[in-house]
This record gives sequence, C-alpha cells and structure tokens, in this order.
Amino acid sequence: MELCTITGLKGKVTVPGDKSISHRSVMFGSIAQGTTEIHHFLNGADCLATICCFRAMGIDIEEKDSTVIVHGKGLHGLSAPDHILDVGNSGTTTRLISGILTGQPFDSKLSGDESLNSRPMKRIMAPLTQMGANISSILRNDCAPLYIAPGKLHGIHYDSPVASAQVKSCVLLAGLYAEGETSVTEPSLSRNHTELMLREFGADIRSTFEIGSTRATASIRPGNELYGQKLTVPGDISSAAYFIAAGLIVPDSEILIEGVGINPTRAGILKVCEDMGGDITLLNERTEGGEKIADILVRTSQLHGIRIEGDIIPTLIDEIPIIAVMAAAAEGTTVIKDAAELKVKETDRIETVTDNLKAMGCQVTPTDDGMIITGGAPLKGTNIHTLLDHRIAMAFSIAALIAEGHTKILDSKCIEVSYPDFYDTFEQLL
Ligand code: S3P
Repeated sequence: MELCTITGLKGKVTVPGDKSISHRSVMFGSIAQGTTEIHHFLNGADCLATICCFRAMGIDIEEKDSTVIVHGKGLHGLSAPDHILDVGNSGTTTRLISGILTGQPFDSKLSGDESLNSRPMKRIMAPLTQMGANISSILRNDCAPLYIAPGKLHGIHYDSPVASAQVKSCVLLAGLYAEGETSVTEPSLSRNHTELMLREFGADIRSTFEIGSTRATASIRPGNELYGQKLTVPGDISSAAYFIAAGLIVPDSEILIEGVGINPTRAGILKVCEDMGGDITLLNERTEGGEKIADILVRTSQLHGIRIEGDIIPTLIDEIPIIAVMAAAAEGTTVIKDAAELKVKETDRIETVTDNLKAMGCQVTPTDDGMIITGGAPLKGTNIHTLLDHRIAMAFSIAALIAEGHTKILDSKCIEVSYPDFYDTFEQLL
C-alpha cells in the first residue's frame, strides 16, 4: 500500500468488533450448552483461526457477514481433532485454547505461523503443568507447536509474573476442568473480558483487587455448566485507536468513531490522548452486555510529549505503536516505560516501532522496556518494514498521512489479522 500526505479527514466511522471479545465468544460458546449468537463479530484472520479450531473439534459454527452462530456442546462436548490445530498468527487463540485443551480427554497438537511459533509459551506451560496438565513444546524450545495430552487437573493459586490477559484466561479456562478453585493474581489488572464474559455464560468466577495495591486476583470454581448467550461485540478500541490518532494529528480533521468499547482495562489510550493535549470527547456512553461503550469524537490538536509508565501499560499495550506515532507528531519528548511485553508481541515492537520511526526521520531511542521519542520534527515518507505485524502496518499508515512525500507499507496484507477493511474505512473520511 502506498500513501501520501493529506489534510482534512472528516466524517463518522464504525470499527469492527473487538478482537479479544470475538475470540472469547466463539470459545465460550463452543463449550457452553445451547446456541450462542454473536453480532458484530470480527472477521479477521485471528478470530477465523479460532472458529476453525473449534470446528475441527466438532462444533458447528455458522458465519454470515458479521453474525456468527455457535452450536455449543457443553463443557465436555468437544471431540478429538483429526489434524493439527492451526492457530495462524494468533497468540490469543493459542494461549486460551490451550487452557481448554488441557481439560479434554483427547490428545491435541497446535501450531501457527513463523511469528506465532516463536512467541513464548512457557508462560502458560508453567501454570498449566502445576495444575497437572500434560503440555509440552514439541521442539523443546518453550514455543509452539504444542502437544497436549489428557491430564487430571487440580486448582492452584497462580501468582503471575506478568500482567497478561492471555495467561490469566488460559489458567482460568483450565480451572473450569480442575478439581477445586483456581485463582490467578497479576501484578496489575490486564483486560478482564474473560472474567466479565464467563460470568455472563454462567461460570462461578469472581475478581478482587487488593486494597492499597494494583494487584488483581480472579478466581473460578468448577461445577457450573455454561449456557449459550446472545451478544453484540463492541467496536474494538485497538482498531479505533488508528482513527483517534489520525483525527488528532492530521491537520483540519474531525472524526466521530461510533460504538467503541471503552472497558477501563482497555481504555488507556484515551487517557494518553487527553494527557498529550488531544481534543477528544466521549459521547453517548452506555453499558451493553457488561461492557462500557461510547462514541468518540476527535479533532485535530497540537499534542505534547508525556511519560507513559506503570499500571496504565497493560490497558494500552496493543496501542503503543500508534501512540509512538502520535509521540513523533507531538512537541517534546515522550517516554514509554514498563512495556517490555512489547518484545513478545507479533514482532518485537520496541524494535519494529523504533526502526520504522527512525527511517521516517524521527529522533527515537529504544530502551529495555520501551522507548524515548522526541517529536515535532517533520516525518519523511519511506518504505515501512512491517515484518507482517498488523499493528505496525496500521500505525505507520497513519504516520504516512503526515509524512512528506510517499510512504510504502510493505506487506500491508497482514492487516487482515485484525482489520481486513482498514483502508476502506479510511476512505470514508477522505
Ligand atoms: C489479548 C491480550 C493481550 C493483547 C492481545 C490480546 C487477549 O496479550 O496484547 O492482543 O485477548 O487476551 P497479553 O495477554 O500477552 O498481554
């Protein structure tokens, strides 16, 4: 995709359904009794990988546009897949499905693409093994492909070293099949869709915060059946983030993004935009299916650099590439810290973000757990090396709009992972 400088993005858009919630709705629907009807489902490659995995385990799943109907078979209704489950590029599919697979009476194997198969899986293998699961890395490198054999699971308390919703969700899902209670404490609260949604599906699950600390614990007790639900997936704030940033940094713009999920465990980007001086207004705030939703109005603003660190990081971890682009457009210095998790995303995003920003002429220094960006200097169009990371492709598509000359996003097809219609939505604003 080739892009050039523009001004005056105007109009209103909606973004596709939330990726995290779309994955979970298929997974929980598959192990629930009865039908789960999902509207505004994200038809991105990652969520389609989740659908394929459950179809391979005997679940009938109908898809029509963005409506998905899952004919669940209950907690013990999955059947053995006759091939290796293909998880594609999706870390969420891999880690959450592993929790479910460890509780099944059959063997399974799962594997993904090159990026997925190099991401760390020890973080789930360690707690699952403590629970009595039989899970191993086939190449013995603590990565996928993974082999999972039946095991007798028992509840544990897991003190997770990372604030990761994928780890937390994996352990809680295994907890559905374990004897006794399973709980996970994380150093700061990561996205809580699993807790909110499993409760709606009927699980005995609760969450607590430690008073005077940011540590959060979620616990689950087995025994309850799950029941199919009808739900509408809110717009994905991680996808909305590109239009929020475009509205703020492209001169003479005003964009309304309708129906975006603003769950506080996901909405760190909104605070960052405000702290940077962004003109951003939440309209029509409401709660649907336990999730907070709003329309987001953004207008072009002169941004300034800020520090982004600590407990806010898990609430905006996927938005750091686009936040870095905003920082490059802002006056002064932005420091991003406590974000070492960026190194184990679809790419090492400390490296992919800083390399591409440098190529555009921005002054940026990578650090062990983030980056330091001095913004304000004009960006230059160049070739962007996405390394097949969808969020890098989309973030730098927005950077291209304020860069001099032409910018080429190499391998922009990877955007299909989370936002197949990204450039079409974009055209609505021209
Ligand atoms: C996700 C959790 C986050 C996030 C990912 C989706 C989820 O990963 O980066 O895109 O749906 O649970 P971690 O749990 O590894 O932080």
